[in-house]
Amino acid sequence: MRHFQRIVGLAAMGVAGVALPVMAAPQYWLDPAGPVAAMQGQLFLLTLYIMLGIFVTVSGILVYTLVRFRERAKASARTGEAGTAARRETAAAAEDELPPQIEGNHKLEIIWTLIPFVLLLIIAIPTVRLSFALAADPGPDALEVRVVGHQWWWEFEYPQLGIVTGNEMRIPVGRPIRLIIESADVIHKFWVPKLAGKMDAIPGRTNQMWLQADEPGIYYGQCAEMCGTHHANMRLRVVALPQAEFDAWVANWGRGPVVEDEAQLAAVERGRMVFETRACYACHAIEGTAARGTAGPNLTDIGSRTTLAAGILENTPENLARWISDPQSVKPGSLMPRVGLSPDELRDVVAYLSSLR
Ligand code: CUA
Repeated sequence: MRHFQRIVGLAAMGVAGVALPVMAAPQYWLDPAGPVAAMQGQLFLLTLYIMLGIFVTVSGILVYTLVRFRERAKASARTGEAGTAARRETAAAAEDELPPQIEGNHKLEIIWTLIPFVLLLIIAIPTVRLSFALAADPGPDALEVRVVGHQWWWEFEYPQLGIVTGNEMRIPVGRPIRLIIESADVIHKFWVPKLAGKMDAIPGRTNQMWLQADEPGIYYGQCAEMCGTHHANMRLRVVALPQAEFDAWVANWGRGPVVEDEAQLAAVERGRMVFETRACYACHAIEGTAARGTAGPNLTDIGSRTTLAAGILENTPENLARWISDPQSVKPGSLMPRVGLSPDELRDVVAYLSSLR
């Protein structure tokens, strides 16, 4: 009995050891932060409870049957001729103990056909209702964001606002966001677990979904479809801001460098010159400058982002310098090439990009 208690105790600790960190994790999808994830979570739990009920009932009956009607080996210690004879006797005795054999009982058959039918109905009705709720247009008040998956970063375009950004999607709190999901290369999958379930980004096809954040905060997401070597490093963040802060971000987008003094301004000007004349401008766009490239993320608000390279580096001047000077060591296979910059040029470009906030 003491052994049994110890095993149960260890099992409980094991389950808690796995479950507690999962529930505290930033991508724990059963802790929803918006109506879409909440509705999906409720449907999942309803289905889970029904399945658990079926599992416990069926396993319970199975275990009861196995124990109750097992063959009791009374003569197991005996050997040889005598043993065989004894086993035969035991088998005959067991046959006598067979449970009642039921065949063609209409009442029972109707009952065990009706039970699954009713259970499936209980699952089907909310499933169909939720499918329509999720496919419905979120209304004229919705903010539209076009999401484009790239190997390995996310592009977010706000057609109503004329804004393009990357990897961090800023949204106003409490407002539905209509997402138009596309891909520039291979199949990706947009997933921000606390806000909504997954949606494929497929080349040549447009998918739609909507989500909404009820509280300000940063919601973590990631690509959920194997899309190449850096699939795991194709992260994203949804930054939900109070309306006033969101409006400020919109108003500030594209206003140009923010500097504190003349010396910084000079460095920023030099950095901008490097950016607009060296390889950078061919792939990246910065609003209000000659840089109009579209192969890489739009960097108009790069200084205001919390991370670099699709969520794998914290956005600090040191990391920015490291990323620009040797992208392949940070993200091998990324389309970002190494641009041969002198240490001074690198410092100036970092100063310039950091000032775009
Ligand atoms: Cu994109 Cu995985």
